[in-house]
Amino acid sequence: MVSLGPGDPSLVTLKALDTLKAVDAICIPTKSGDRSFTKSLSYRIVEELASRYSLKARRVPIYAPMNYREEDWREQAKEIADCLDRYGETAFVTLGDAAIYSSVYYLLDIFERDYPELYEKCEVIAGVTSFSQASAKVKKPLCLGESALSIEPLPLRETQRSRVYMRPWVGMPTESIPESGELYRFENLDGEREKILLGRGDEIDSYMTLFIDFCRKREE
Ligand SMILES: C[S@@+](CC[C@H](N)C(=O)[O-])C[C@H]1O[C@@H](n2cnc3c(N)ncnc32)[C@H](O)[C@@H]1O
Repeated sequence: MVSLGPGDPSLVTLKALDTLKAVDAICIPTKSGDRSFTKSLSYRIVEELASRYSLKARRVPIYAPMNYREEDWREQAKEIADCLDRYGETAFVTLGDAAIYSSVYYLLDIFERDYPELYEKCEVIAGVTSFSQASAKVKKPLCLGESALSIEPLPLRETQRSRVYMRPWVGMPTESIPESGELYRFENLDGEREKILLGRGDEIDSYMTLFIDFCRKREE
């Protein structure tokens, strides 16, 4: 599950690029019923990378209609699973970052239920979000000092929310960190002392710690 960033191929991460170079097939969602890629930004990014870095993987269109019906997700999951059987290592690409309103997690839910072995082998590769790039374009921070960031789906409505807690101080007790969903603690991500724990854990011992209270259930 490869995040492609918001549009500029230069914002694709090295990890995503290495993956796209290594796989046998790249599944690219398209909204066109004829499976053409004429309107697909993901396709344009992949093609640009293909010409810059000589990607060899075959490109496979995955029909991804705009309506969010379970049967459509199941069909897409099946097409990706078939692609793995037919061609070998397969990447499914998504715009921006997979964590932000991406079909990746509908598909992973289906893999977990219907293709558990495949689910275990899946990896999600993070990317640059559209709003990180938007902020960079206008040179304005999304949060700084004591301010916070909120991401809301439109149209506005009361909804469940995930929350990220970051920038703690060493020695800070953790009891005050709220938990309404599933709280995880991440320390020294990608470093030698990386720790990922379910729950708050004890007091903070590294500034490089963040918490995510993942909302429990999706509504769609
Ligand atoms: C289904 S969400 C996917 C978000 C994406 N995963 C991300 O990390 O930004 C699609 C929405 O993201 C925003 N978006 C994504 N790419 C964008 C871009 N290149 N320019 C402006 N908005 C963008 C728009 O609000 C769009 O309706």
